[in-house]
Amino acid sequence: MRFYLTTAIDYVNSRPHLGTAYEKITADVIARYKRLCGVETRFVMGNDEHSQNVFRRAREHGVSPLEYCNLMEREFRDVWARLDISFDDFIRTTEERHRRGVTKLLERIQAAGDLYEGFYEGWYCVSCEAFKQEKDLIDGLCPVHASKPDWIREKNYFFRLTKYREPLRAHFAAHPEFLVPEIRRNEILRLLDSGLEDISVSRAGQAWGIPLPFDPDSVAYVWFDALINYASAVGYGTDDRLFARWWPADLHVIGKDITRFHSVVWPAMLMSAGVELPRQVFGHGWVHLKGQKMSKSLGTTLDPIEAADRFGADPLRLYLVKEIAYGSDGDFSWERYEERYNVDLANNLGNLVSRVAAMADRYLEGRVVGGRADPHDRLAAVAEGAVGDYRRAMDAYALHEGAAAAYRVIDATNEFIAATAPWVLVRDSSARRRVEQVLFDAAEAIRIAALLLLPVMPRSAEEILRRVGSPVGPHQAVLDRDARWHATGERILTKAAALWPRAEAAKP
Ligand code: MSP
Repeated sequence: MRFYLTTAIDYVNSRPHLGTAYEKITADVIARYKRLCGVETRFVMGNDEHSQNVFRRAREHGVSPLEYCNLMEREFRDVWARLDISFDDFIRTTEERHRRGVTKLLERIQAAGDLYEGFYEGWYCVSCEAFKQEKDLIDGLCPVHASKPDWIREKNYFFRLTKYREPLRAHFAAHPEFLVPEIRRNEILRLLDSGLEDISVSRAGQAWGIPLPFDPDSVAYVWFDALINYASAVGYGTDDRLFARWWPADLHVIGKDITRFHSVVWPAMLMSAGVELPRQVFGHGWVHLKGQKMSKSLGTTLDPIEAADRFGADPLRLYLVKEIAYGSDGDFSWERYEERYNVDLANNLGNLVSRVAAMADRYLEGRVVGGRADPHDRLAAVAEGAVGDYRRAMDAYALHEGAAAAYRVIDATNEFIAATAPWVLVRDSSARRRVEQVLFDAAEAIRIAALLLLPVMPRSAEEILRRVGSPVGPHQAVLDRDARWHATGERILTKAAALWPRAEAAKP
């Protein structure tokens, strides 16, 4: 079994913001979940560099476009490292392997007779990198960027997208899972019903881009170029064996604004070139900041590093995954982030881990043996049920429900500790084995919750597994085998400083 997962590749004209980081974090959770299930996983991200905005930004900085992209690559990689994004490969569209992949795919599309020369006259929004029709504009401005698009008149090559309308409809009908969630699928089905137009796929008179193999005076339109990264990253055009091993992609994770490119244009390009289609596209929603769209010009972007610095990368990851239904839009505010941090981490999980380890330390010098008193079947049943729910949720990319399932185990364990009150039991010297069993069972439930949270909070879950004396480390863990409840065994628990101290003052 193998799983090839990608995210959108980012424009590098500005640093990542919380919205772009959200996509990478959620895709990382999926990648880590797949690995936890024992599936061989390839997780690829990258940078989309041939945009006109990048070219302009480099000019402003007085450096060449490539130098600028090199600088930005470092910035992007730093952010992803800080957020613990575990990609296996990072592709840049200026790399030679990508150029060769683009060239090959374009040649195939050309050979299929799907490109023709034409003349484009109309609007083009550089910030969207998209051709716009009059009806797309509001008061003559791009509705996304509130800026006036350029009027361009140039020779372009057009791709016969119209030819693929019926094959696309047939594909959507035969593969209802191709585009999820449902809301995106319905939107695209409506688009396919209303008809498609051929699209311009080249730009003339520009030096920044990949030249068309059959007309080097033109470069590939940046979207045509960028989409091909998913194939070139696994060897299309350079390494047939690698490509055969990983293609087709299992999942493209992308934002809802670029669904059409991924579920209409990209599959049509692949159909034309005779390449298998990816299995699934997931269009996630938007992260807003205090209810407002994140936008550079409005000053409503948020630096993900600043958010991670507040409490750590893991609390940020948990917040974004647990508080936003995956697929829907969500919101970030400092107040809510702090509130959830205190509730979910400081008071709940962190406090639970500290109390159980402290009691084991105080009453039993840290060593607890299970199986010498009656086990607590109810807690075991809650944990087993939660593992099943977690599996189903995560397999359907309902990441928020996966996190909620882990929290059901944590809540049940807190209730269990309150109900069994080991600090009372311990006063009765004949109840020592019961105290041990309570702490063993609590440690077991925490171990299982930590395993389930491993994809979401990799560092913290690892530390929790260590503190509860998990016999299996995070890198060896396999969900189906290791998330089973153990009623017997020995555990060495470790007492240590609070994982998440309570946050007192709200950030303005
Ligand atoms: N370069 C193109 C993608 C090419 S993929 C072949 C692009 N880049 S982007 O930098 O503008 O956006 C990168 C990803 O971040 C996209 O999937 C986009 O939808 C997503 N997001 C941008 N802002 C976002 C939020 N505020 N919230 C969630 N995702 C957001 O588009």
